[in-house]
Amino acid sequence: MTPYCYRSVAAALLLLSHSISTSFAFKFTPTGQTVQLDGASYYIPPDVISTISISRPMRKALDSAGGLLPFTVVHAPSLEYGEQDFSHDIASYLSTDDVFSKGFLEAVYVQYSNGSGSRYPGFSAPKLSGNNSVNVVSTGFASNTSSIPVGPYFVTSTGTVHEAWKLFSDVQGAFLETTVANKDGTLSVLPANVEGQSLAIAVPSRLYFTKTDAKPLAGVRLGIKDIYDIAGLRTSNGNRAWYHFYPPANRTALSVQRLMDAGAIIVGKMKTSQFANGEVATADWVDYHEPFNPRGDGYQDTSSSSSGPGAGAAAYDWLDLTLGSDTGGSIRNPSQVQGLFGNRPSWGMVSLEGVMPMAPQLDTAGFLTRHPDIWVAASKVMYGDNVTLSHSYPSKIQTIGWPTTNSSEANGLLLSFLDKLTTHLNATTTSLNLTQQWMKQHPANVTSSLVDLMNLTYPILIGQQTTSVRDPFYADYSAANSGRLPFVNPVPLARWGWATSFPPSTIDDAITNKTTFGNWIEDNIFIANEKTCSDSLGIYVGNSGTTNYRNAYRSPPGIPTGFSTSRISIFSGVPDFVLPIGQASYKSNITQQIEYLPVSVDILAAKGCDGMIFGLVQDLIKAGIINATKAGYSGVTGEKILF
Ligand SMILES: *[C@@H]1O[C@H](CO)[C@@H](O)[C@H](O)[C@H]1NC(C)=O
Ligand SMILES: *[C@@H]1O[C@H](CO)[C@@H](O)[C@H](O)[C@H]1NC(C)=O
Ligand SMILES: *[C@@H]1O[C@H](CO)[C@@H](O)[C@H](O)[C@H]1NC(C)=O
Ligand SMILES: *[C@@H]1O[C@H](CO)[C@@H](O)[C@H](O)[C@H]1NC(C)=O
Ligand SMILES: *[C@@H]1O[C@H](CO)[C@@H](O)[C@H](O)[C@H]1NC(C)=O
Ligand SMILES: *[C@@H]1O[C@H](CO)[C@@H](O)[C@H](O)[C@H]1NC(C)=O
Ligand SMILES: *[C@@H]1O[C@H](CO)[C@@H](O)[C@H](O)[C@H]1NC(C)=O
Ligand SMILES: *[C@@H]1O[C@H](CO)[C@@H](O)[C@H](O)[C@H]1NC(C)=O
Ligand SMILES: *[C@@H]1O[C@H](CO)[C@@H](O)[C@H](O)[C@H]1NC(C)=O
Ligand SMILES: *[C@@H]1O[C@H](CO)[C@@H](O)[C@H](O)[C@H]1NC(C)=O
Ligand SMILES: *[C@@H]1O[C@H](CO)[C@@H](O)[C@H](O)[C@H]1NC(C)=O
Ligand SMILES: *[C@@H]1O[C@H](CO)[C@@H](O)[C@H](O)[C@H]1NC(C)=O
Repeated sequence: MTPYCYRSVAAALLLLSHSISTSFAFKFTPTGQTVQLDGASYYIPPDVISTISISRPMRKALDSAGGLLPFTVVHAPSLEYGEQDFSHDIASYLSTDDVFSKGFLEAVYVQYSNGSGSRYPGFSAPKLSGNNSVNVVSTGFASNTSSIPVGPYFVTSTGTVHEAWKLFSDVQGAFLETTVANKDGTLSVLPANVEGQSLAIAVPSRLYFTKTDAKPLAGVRLGIKDIYDIAGLRTSNGNRAWYHFYPPANRTALSVQRLMDAGAIIVGKMKTSQFANGEVATADWVDYHEPFNPRGDGYQDTSSSSSGPGAGAAAYDWLDLTLGSDTGGSIRNPSQVQGLFGNRPSWGMVSLEGVMPMAPQLDTAGFLTRHPDIWVAASKVMYGDNVTLSHSYPSKIQTIGWPTTNSSEANGLLLSFLDKLTTHLNATTTSLNLTQQWMKQHPANVTSSLVDLMNLTYPILIGQQTTSVRDPFYADYSAANSGRLPFVNPVPLARWGWATSFPPSTIDDAITNKTTFGNWIEDNIFIANEKTCSDSLGIYVGNSGTTNYRNAYRSPPGIPTGFSTSRISIFSGVPDFVLPIGQASYKSNITQQIEYLPVSVDILAAKGCDGMIFGLVQDLIKAGIINATKAGYSGVTGEKILF
């Protein structure tokens, strides 16, 4: 009975495949597979990295493992490569790579770099510490074309070698779509999932990559704010209707392309508040849920709009760098509240082609990261010759709203930082009150106060979204949906509605006011200097560890009018860099315990002096005045994120 059944099934299948092959052109695309190794999840891309000949012991291991075997490639520079070299290499892989694990020592492939044609040396399986031992060894010779980078891989019984990408869960909800790089350089949506109630992210072994002059970002794991187009992926701009309505992008933003060309690995698109407008958790994030700020009690607002880039960079040690954008604080604020380095660059440092606009006169592209060295390297790549590192510094520091007494933990840190900075630069400090300075020094043909001049400038300029974003979106969407309009979150809706009440000529007024202010700053406050780029540094408090709980009900969205210190860079185009300097304690009304939140400072200089600030960051790190920060609960000590 049973054999008969099987035969008929087989016959039916044959028939089916016959009819498919003659009448349909079916499209089958292998998208890789996922496996577990010692409890960790891995994604195995379909691309074949290399093909190796399978030794007899390896064949046996493959058969018993079901046709797919984790293994490790090591490089032997000479035939003398022995047990000690091997143990040393493995220890180094374990300490530098978060993808490699002892599970990959199931089999080892020793690749000799020269001596092709000679006999394989007898490399014997060494004992490793503990109970781990290497089971199977295979050897081969590398030529220029066959060399496989060291690290963890999977091999199939036909000898095809595939990379190992470790899967992590986006437990903080920082990503909107996660991606995998195809061999041809395009990106696809990652076809994998893991436990954690969120998207999975796949990262390749760090061991595959070597940074070079041509690829200074080789292997750097990068997340992109979802307002940058990447060919093959949809862009959402933080709006569900937009994501589903428009087809995948057919171009990659120039800024992103430069990072990819330099070797960065894009692991996903990250959350933005809607159309990059300022939104707060609970009240405003209707289409998507705001990511979770990992610091402190885990229930502080991430700030916006580069919320995903900020939360991800602060939470995940497997993520190295994120690309955000700053029109009115969208890189700086998430960096300040999450203990990250972040830069609003001088305006105009890189083309924003392929990026959703807010206000072209104010929009900038910059990074959020825990790693100052990667920050500098990525900036050189993205801004090209618009950034030149320099190490001659101004000897004048203008403090803006700086504390004068040790009245709180944060103020103590801020004063101590300024003291060290002043000593390091042998500088003098003066306190700057921009409003007063304007009263004393304003241009003769402008009689209004600073706040009157600038009060409406920001909301009017971002109101340009009504014509650059809203109108075409509404027109396209309603034409395809019987006149319906798409859903838009309360904040962009309120801002767009407000801006619509002004005549278009108001935009020219706003630009004139912005130019007046910018010229005044350039002539009086941050003056270009041939030797030190800028005649002074400006410094203000980025964050003093203050709470901003996400479980708060708030008033309806208002209009972002006004002038404040954080708007100096916005309106004048000068660089504004966030540096984390430590943390301060607070009593959490959630955990009912003492927890810690980041303390950070912002540094300003004359327009175009980004390279001087980067140089200063390098020197301050060298001097131990600031440090790279950590992922997790605390930027200072790391530790497990609270849920
Ligand atoms: C490999 O090349 C290096 C440098 O040319 C040489 O020193 C070494 O002896 C070679 N090893 C073998 C096994 O041929
Ligand atoms: C090695 O294996 C033995 C027996 O299975 C076990 O008792 C011991 O704890 C293991 N040692 C280590 C270092 O894992
Ligand atoms: C390998 O590449 C180097 C540099 O590109 C070249 O000089 C060398 O001749 C190549 N060797 C072989 C065996 O192809
Ligand atoms: C790319 O997409 C844009 C926007 O959807 C469209 O206008 C343009 O024609 C497309 N270009 C190509 C080459 O398909
Ligand atoms: C440098 O800035 C200028 C002015 O904004 C811009 O035109 C140019 O494309 C930028 N250069 C690079 C390498 O991005
Ligand atoms: C700056 O000066 C104005 C006008 O005198 C004053 O109202 C304001 O409080 C001052 N700001 C700071 C930070 O001292
Ligand atoms: C610091 O600056 C003062 C005056 O500006 C100068 O006299 C002194 O030599 C400088 N000290 C150092 C260590 O450069
Ligand atoms: C004020 O004068 C400057 C310099 O002459 C000029 O560039 C600017 O447009 C003027 N501003 C106004 C508001 O008239
Ligand atoms: C700024 O503009 C808003 C909206 O028009 C207005 O309510 C507010 O009073 C203005 N503030 C100042 C200081 O002029
Ligand atoms: C420009 O500045 C003038 C004061 O000089 C102010 O009355 C006007 O409201 C400002 N307009 C905008 C759009 O910022
Ligand atoms: C904690 O404090 C914030 C800010 O004061 C408040 O909005 C929130 O409701 C409080 N949460 C609890 C659980 O008390
Ligand atoms: C930075 O790290 C060094 C070395 O661990 C330490 O001495 C210094 O206090 C740290 N500085 C800050 C600001 O945390």
